[in-house]
Amino acid sequence: MGDKKRIYLFDTTLRDGEQSPGVSLNVEEKLEIAGQLARLGVDVIEAGFPIASPGDFAAVKTIAENIKGPVIAGLCRATRGDIDRTWEAVKGAESPRIHTFLATSDIHLKYKLQKSREEVLLQAVEAVKYARRFCSDVEFSAEDASRSDLDFLAQVIEAVIEAGAGVVNLPDTVGYAVPEEYGYFIRSVMERVPNIDRAIVSVHCHNDLGMAVANSLAAICNGARQVECAVNGIGERAGNASLEEIIMALYTRQAFYDKEININYNEIYRSSRLVSSLTGMEVQANKAIVGKNAFLHESGIHQDGVLKERSTYEIMSPELIGISSSNLVLGKHSGRHAFKERLEELGYRLGDEELEKAFLDFKELADKKKEVTNDDLEALVKDKVWAI
Ligand code: KIV
Ligand code: ZN
Repeated sequence: MGDKKRIYLFDTTLRDGEQSPGVSLNVEEKLEIAGQLARLGVDVIEAGFPIASPGDFAAVKTIAENIKGPVIAGLCRATRGDIDRTWEAVKGAESPRIHTFLATSDIHLKYKLQKSREEVLLQAVEAVKYARRFCSDVEFSAEDASRSDLDFLAQVIEAVIEAGAGVVNLPDTVGYAVPEEYGYFIRSVMERVPNIDRAIVSVHCHNDLGMAVANSLAAICNGARQVECAVNGIGERAGNASLEEIIMALYTRQAFYDKEININYNEIYRSSRLVSSLTGMEVQANKAIVGKNAFLHESGIHQDGVLKERSTYEIMSPELIGISSSNLVLGKHSGRHAFKERLEELGYRLGDEELEKAFLDFKELADKKKEVTNDDLEALVKDKVWAI
């Protein structure tokens, strides 16, 4: 199916991401985020779970009718009522998708669904066939796939592909897998399903053990072609695989992964900021790619290296993802080189003697203050310098 190198980015910020405890977005906010995701260039936007509430239904419908470019998907359980409601919400989209799911692990069958494997197999096939009556693009997710019996899972996947699912998703719903194991799991399922070439294999990893991105990348190395992820890694419990980390891993290590994605890199940072401000979920300072510290260098040795040649301590450029501000934070570990450079950026040039004196004052201040700001610097040097 298509070019095997192409990896499809399926963004679930507005569905699984919104399942983050304490997050609730209204229709306007969801529309704004969807517009930004379209500018970023994701392949699929999962806009919500239409049966969950009238507000979610309205948001999915509004996004479907207004956002052009990406496929617009709505999530539903594997029941007719859910599928009807989802189709009603997504049918106005340029490219609509019905995403239906049913658990396949024995734990879920026994305690949650109270159904036998035969009943689940039948229900999954019925749901996909029913969804295909409305929509040519149907995705089936085997919830808790990574803890399911492999033979049974393969049987379900083969049957839903036969019933018309074009995308089959194998989630690590509870974030239990580890990379080598999950990669092997994806490969094993694919080997057991004779008609697997008729569908795109998708992955959806949760971050309970902090492995969601690593697991997704391991899956890509083993044949997965769609990755489900969320901006800033938000989502149920510890969250989903982080969209920006997946993108930048594939980009920065292109020679290793040898995959292609189609994304506007310089919209990454803006997407992160927008999602953070509308959800109220702060991004941790040391978060990879989009955290406040992700491109900052504090130690004097690092700062000196970066000023001489950025590749000494930078593996990607902040400008690529849309960050334009200075990448050196001045604190007690900073050296003369960065200090002098920042003063020059601010428009001040000091003679050797003045510079030395100002540098000592700066170190004294830095011992008392975690971060020395531009205002602090100006206050320090204003009597000792002449402007450039
Ligand atoms: O984590 C999960 O299994 C899900 C499915 C509904 C795709 O979110
Ligand atoms: Zn999930």
